[in-house]
Amino acid sequence: MLFGRPHLLGLEGLSAEEITFLLDTAESFKEVSEREIKKVPTLRGRTVINLFFESSTRTRTSFEIAAKRLSADTVNLSAQASSASKGETLTDTARNLAAMRPDAIVVRHPSAGAAHLLARHVPCPIINGGDGAHEHPTQALLDLLTIRERKGTISGLTVAIVGDLLHSRVARSNLFGLRTMGAKVRFVGPPTLVPRDFAELGAELVYDLHEGVHDADVIMMLRIQRERMNGRYFASLDEYSRLFCLSADAVARARRDVIILHPGPMNRGVEISSTVADGPYSVIMDQVTNGVAVRMAVLYVLVGRRKDAGAEERAEHAEHEEGEDHPGASDRAAERTGGGHAAPATPNPPGLAARGRELS
Ligand code: NCD
Repeated sequence: MLFGRPHLLGLEGLSAEEITFLLDTAESFKEVSEREIKKVPTLRGRTVINLFFESSTRTRTSFEIAAKRLSADTVNLSAQASSASKGETLTDTARNLAAMRPDAIVVRHPSAGAAHLLARHVPCPIINGGDGAHEHPTQALLDLLTIRERKGTISGLTVAIVGDLLHSRVARSNLFGLRTMGAKVRFVGPPTLVPRDFAELGAELVYDLHEGVHDADVIMMLRIQRERMNGRYFASLDEYSRLFCLSADAVARARRDVIILHPGPMNRGVEISSTVADGPYSVIMDQVTNGVAVRMAVLYVLVGRRKDAGAEERAEHAEHEEGEDHPGASDRAAERTGGGHAAPATPNPPGLAARGRELS
């Protein structure tokens, strides 16, 4: 099995083989969304809970559509509608949801580490839909899929990620994924939003837009995340856009076949001009389309294939019971407990990469 992990909490630590496997699986699901009847029975009878403590249009809808196209039942819970608004802790909310036996929980939360916390307390697969300024793995996977589709490969490309790096979970997940897949990553923005210690994560830091996008194969623009800012990071939005808004003039510095990505929501005129956002190099709508396929793949790999793994394990167990002294039995038992690709059930909490409030 090429992805034996119980959860998808981040791209940090995933191997190139694991990422490639998820991208290949997503590619195979794309065709379902082109059919007239956009549904396959893969997750029939399974329940997926979308637990969103932050506002979201794309990500929540994309997960819901993905689950529905796989025939799963979906339940959407928002912070306002959940008992969190009555003072319940995240762990208690999750434990109560888990007691209703869902097959997966997708969680988005303003605090870094929220998905890791849930993974320690509930027995079903947890998918990180964005935790604070830490990681947003499915967004990075859909970005990687879009880049691979357009460029044929990820290895050897120069990717400039521009804007509010400090508060961006999208940038962090992309940095891990892109570097693992062999791309060179530049972080471009004002020094207040591109801290020096980000160089430790393996990115080149550039403080000038034109220099940062020079000869880039891919430009990924980020939104200024005013909701996460608790200080003054630049004099005014006007000044920021004068220096860092991606205009046609800046795009001309990149490679002739450059592609431009943005995870959305976009602030037109602040970080990206409308001419560029709607122009010939933009692949922003492809990203949204690919998002559904990536989320179908992740749900299938964590939920659909789990059943098969369980059946295999039960069959092995029965065999083991029948002949305890079978020479292969102890090896297989060892495999069940520690071998293969299975990640530890309790993954490490976010480290250096995590900014903002952390949950323990
Ligand atoms: C991003 C997010 O929420 O992290 N958007 C998204 O998931 N499509 C980026 C952002 O909010 O700027």
